[in-house]
Amino acid sequence: ATPLRLGVAGLGTVGAGLITLLRDNADLITARAGRPVEVTAVAARDRNRDRGIDVTPFRWYDNATDLVSDPNVDVIVELIGGADGTARLLVESALTAGKPTVTANKALIALHGETLARLSERHKAPLLFEAAVAGGIPAIKTVREGLAADRILWIGGILNGTCNYILTAMRETGRDFADVLAEAQALGYAEADPSTDVDGIDAAHKLTILASLAFGNPIIFDSVHVEGIRHIGALDFSFARTLGYRIKLIGLARRNEYGIEARVAPCLIPEASPIAQVDGVFNAVITEGTFVGRLMVEGRGAGAGPTASAVAADLIDLARNTTAPVWGTSSSELKSVRSRPASER
Ligand code: HSE
Repeated sequence: ATPLRLGVAGLGTVGAGLITLLRDNADLITARAGRPVEVTAVAARDRNRDRGIDVTPFRWYDNATDLVSDPNVDVIVELIGGADGTARLLVESALTAGKPTVTANKALIALHGETLARLSERHKAPLLFEAAVAGGIPAIKTVREGLAADRILWIGGILNGTCNYILTAMRETGRDFADVLAEAQALGYAEADPSTDVDGIDAAHKLTILASLAFGNPIIFDSVHVEGIRHIGALDFSFARTLGYRIKLIGLARRNEYGIEARVAPCLIPEASPIAQVDGVFNAVITEGTFVGRLMVEGRGAGAGPTASAVAADLIDLARNTTAPVWGTSSSELKSVRSRPASER
């Protein structure tokens, strides 16, 4: 069978993880995709950096956008990150050229999702982003495919592995914030700029994507209420424990009488509740639909292996030709909406 040939832009933690996964699981991926899925070209900044993988078999580009015009690249895999700059340019030019695109870039999808959905539809180029929300948890597939027939009442969860790792370690060991953050960075969980994690912005990107899918309209990112975890200290954990609660950074979006309300903030969660048990780098997506009732999916929300696994799942969908529209419906149905707190009239 004809292989699906990939051009991978960005060879950081996730890019290197993807190349390793495609190599180690090549047999099962070929069987499930119906054809081999192979990297043919890569683009990254420094060719000589040691990434723990052999890059010599791949055609090398210094400019990511050159991948789009390579006739031996069928699919663009964007793992550069950032809402604007090279990542956006690459994804927009790939879609415009009609090339299917897979990205792990939550900021890009959260900020420019509506425009990208229109480009994807106009040029018949699927855009997939399973890895953009909650790493290895099939969060997008759960909402877009698994719950496709249901009306979702609310959706959210623990959406940032770095914050959950920090809050867990602070609670369990009494260590301070900066010390635990440095550890999360060393483990490859944190964003390039960790303030994106600890100030709640990364969780808000993911919540924006989940809520946009769940409610069928792109949510305007700037209208989401965002609060991080920097100000939480040892005394907060001690009070929470005394009262029978745990502190978790929670993102939640729900319908209210004025529209949709989306917020990210540290919350007190009763110790016995399932979401309070989700610790360390683990994330959880929770939702409730009118027919399905309540549902929770838990898994690793960051790191090379889990994120690569989500990217590869999208690649298998592409190889099999089983993709859905970006927001689940045709882009003519889309209209961006603001998050409106219940107090807004
Ligand atoms: N920095 C993110 C996190 C990585 O900690 O969850 C996955 O998006």
